[in-house]
Amino acid sequence: MTDFASLLVADRGQKAHPIHLVDKNSFEDWAKTRPAEDRALLKAHRFDGKSGFAFVILPRKGDEFEVVSAVADARELSPWCLGKLSESLPEGAYKLAAREPGPAALGWLLAQHRFDAYRAKKSEEPDRGPRVLVTGEPAKIDAVVREAEAVALVRDLVNTPAGDLGPAELEQAVRAQAERVGAEVRVTSGKELEEGYPLIAAVGRAASKEHAPRLIELEWGDPKNPRIAVVGKGVCFDSGGLDIKPASGMRLMKKDMGGAAHALALAALIAGDRLPVRLHLLIPAVENAISGNALRPGDIVKSRQGLHVEIDNTDAEGRLILADALTKAGEGEPELIVDFATLTGAARVALGPDLPALFSNDDRLADELTRSGKDSTDPVWRMPIWDAYDEMLKSDIADLANAAGSPMAGAVVAAMFLKRFVPKDTPWAHFDTYAWRDKGKPGRPKGGEALGLRAVFAALSDRYEKSQPSTRG
Ligand code: BES
Ligand code: ZN
Ligand code: ZN
Repeated sequence: MTDFASLLVADRGQKAHPIHLVDKNSFEDWAKTRPAEDRALLKAHRFDGKSGFAFVILPRKGDEFEVVSAVADARELSPWCLGKLSESLPEGAYKLAAREPGPAALGWLLAQHRFDAYRAKKSEEPDRGPRVLVTGEPAKIDAVVREAEAVALVRDLVNTPAGDLGPAELEQAVRAQAERVGAEVRVTSGKELEEGYPLIAAVGRAASKEHAPRLIELEWGDPKNPRIAVVGKGVCFDSGGLDIKPASGMRLMKKDMGGAAHALALAALIAGDRLPVRLHLLIPAVENAISGNALRPGDIVKSRQGLHVEIDNTDAEGRLILADALTKAGEGEPELIVDFATLTGAARVALGPDLPALFSNDDRLADELTRSGKDSTDPVWRMPIWDAYDEMLKSDIADLANAAGSPMAGAVVAAMFLKRFVPKDTPWAHFDTYAWRDKGKPGRPKGGEALGLRAVFAALSDRYEKSQPSTRG
């Protein structure tokens, strides 16, 4: 893991290249304050303060230089507005000339994180050392570093191929975090899983022995604190099962544990910040594989909660494993349940890759999450839980089916299925997230991505303590 703490350091008067941030409104006034050589250079570069034109280096004596960069709004920095600089500038220390980085520190850090576990040549620029950002707000450093680590954890876990990240390795990832923060881990597998969590066992039973299904649970925090449950879909690979996916649909399905990665990263943030809660993390981890003993369309499985589920489509496996995990979460009587899942293609059709779909049975919780998503530039978009669609999940012979015959409102119907397994009066938020970026941007490379993670952490921080996460200005 990138050593993020070495990339954001306290200002002790050390030498640092100044970075001037301007926008199209402030550029002219700022330019007037600069020496004539600067103005000539900027003119030659046709630098006019419009964002999109990244930066110009302004030479000074010897090897000294300053940097000017155009951002969308120099008064309200986005988390990503320093990404291009952090990626491109030469090795050395830098400091914003007129302000503190605030939320932009996150992008500075993440822009220097690479997923290079599978490259012989470890970095594209092995000769270039770190770009260090100096800040006058040292009290905020730890929280930003933890956020960068959490986002990088999601990215790395999602990017790791399914051959190297099955249920067993996902369990190891949870154990590694538990060790860091001092949490207990419990793993249920084998006979106990079949008896206690029949849906998780059924979905995972076609996988090879090394990739056997399991429920991974982590508990952290003072049991006297309010209890919250965080659940994540951990399908380490989704072939679709017997209702097999076409090649195009299967290609990215190593990312189908993206919900689990988000849940684990959220747990790391909560514990890292010592939020006064008792956290219960639940990750049902399976491979949705194909074999002679695979779950079949038409099979009926009795869930942990007691409802019989008829399998309409084995590719709607995420909701099955989540059902048993949500039941278990509810048994702990938490005051809040949050789940993350790469649950439906339909959520992507509705909202595209940037916006996780948020479903909630509680308006206050949904409003908090929407607001903190906006405030932390990690937007989420609420979609309805629409009770009339319950009937789409009717089964001819069982209590319910896992999918509807029609593709209409696919993400809503999936949420309706989950709702059956959540205690009625427990505030619950469900994120149908993509966990992936199809096109890279500075600080946000193509591949696994954390979407909605910072939004949820900010909302929980607001709920359970006064202090704000640092990346919100
Ligand atoms: N993991 C997929 C959903 C998915 C696909 C998420 C592509 C992100 C990108 C899920 O298990 C699935 O296959 N869902 C089906 C449900 C259908 C069979 C009712 C879907 O969305 O098509
Ligand atoms: Zn599926
Ligand atoms: Zn899936």
